[in-house]
Amino acid sequence: MELKELANQSILPIKPYVPGKSVKQALSEIALPEVYKMASNENPRGASPRAKAKYMELADQLHIYPEIYDRELLDAFALKLGCSRDNITLSNGGDGIIYNMGMAVLNPGDETIIPEITFAVYETITRIMHAVPVFSPMKDFAIDLDDIYSRITDKTKIIFICNPNNPTGQCLPKDKLIAFLKKVPEHIFVFLDEAYIDFTESDFNIGSVELLKGGMNNLFILRTFSKVYGLAGVRIGFGIGSPELISLISRVKPPFDLSIVAENIAAEALADDEFYSRTVTETASEKEYYYAELDKLGLSYFRSQTNYILINVKMDAKKAAQALMEQGIIVRPAASYGFPTCIRITIGQHRENELFFKALRKLVV
Ligand SMILES: Cc1ncc(COP(=O)(O)O)c(C=O)c1O
Repeated sequence: MELKELANQSILPIKPYVPGKSVKQALSEIALPEVYKMASNENPRGASPRAKAKYMELADQLHIYPEIYDRELLDAFALKLGCSRDNITLSNGGDGIIYNMGMAVLNPGDETIIPEITFAVYETITRIMHAVPVFSPMKDFAIDLDDIYSRITDKTKIIFICNPNNPTGQCLPKDKLIAFLKKVPEHIFVFLDEAYIDFTESDFNIGSVELLKGGMNNLFILRTFSKVYGLAGVRIGFGIGSPELISLISRVKPPFDLSIVAENIAAEALADDEFYSRTVTETASEKEYYYAELDKLGLSYFRSQTNYILINVKMDAKKAAQALMEQGIIVRPAASYGFPTCIRITIGQHRENELFFKALRKLVV
């Protein structure tokens, strides 16, 4: 008997998640003193100094289980977001939020609608739950809301929308997305992944929390501390939804999925406005540097509402990523997303960005 026969049969089509290469891996393959990881959209500045200081205080609490329902922390979130603590659920990263939501609402045979090119984990949880992913083709590489709407059936349970989308970094037009959300029947959840919303220009930010507060109870919003807050290694994500949905999620959520470290430093990170603003401002200005340099090189790219850019390097993406790594820059080849000649790169700090362009010029000029 093959072990596969014993598996949850629904997970067999899932391709294991391929993360960006780590610095450790890269250093084991090449002999360079310094390597910059620009593959996973982390914050190159590190974490907020306030969060770091809090982290140093936690050494003598590591043997204690975290609190499951930390009112003070939830209140800090609620105050920042302008909602109630009953609207918020926390987990170990946005990934945990996606899993918990799926576990809470998907029954076998339910359908989820997922844009063809987007973040992979929506499909994973759909399959784990024996639900059926229905893929919506892109239109000029963008999420096609009309197509998604046309795929709604009486089995549809969740529509996943990543805005800005990964890997293109593009946002949907604000008025179109709001009109779509208003149109979706209220018994279908819209899972709005806003992992990168902090980097998004106001013209593209739909004010999702306000829509939820205005009575759009089928809306569920994902946010994360992995990007702008610089805490990808700690694993903290949060979901914002109606109290009824949050209560359903609390039934399936692993009791201690937020570590004592995550729970204690999240509030500090959330309160560090200086670090947050600096990250947003510097990322925006470095993005302009990218656009200018890419224009000079005659390479096309997607204008991004995030902290990364998808660039068409006009050569095999995997070969380009390998050649860049050999020069100390780790990027993500976007072939698995359906872009065989594109790489996705995290906007670094100026020095890293300069080094990237120095390396890129050697490849493409
Ligand atoms: C679009 C999107 N959603 C969610 C996540 C999950 O992030 P995390 O689990 O680190 O919070 C990521 C991570 O890169 C992402 O790109």
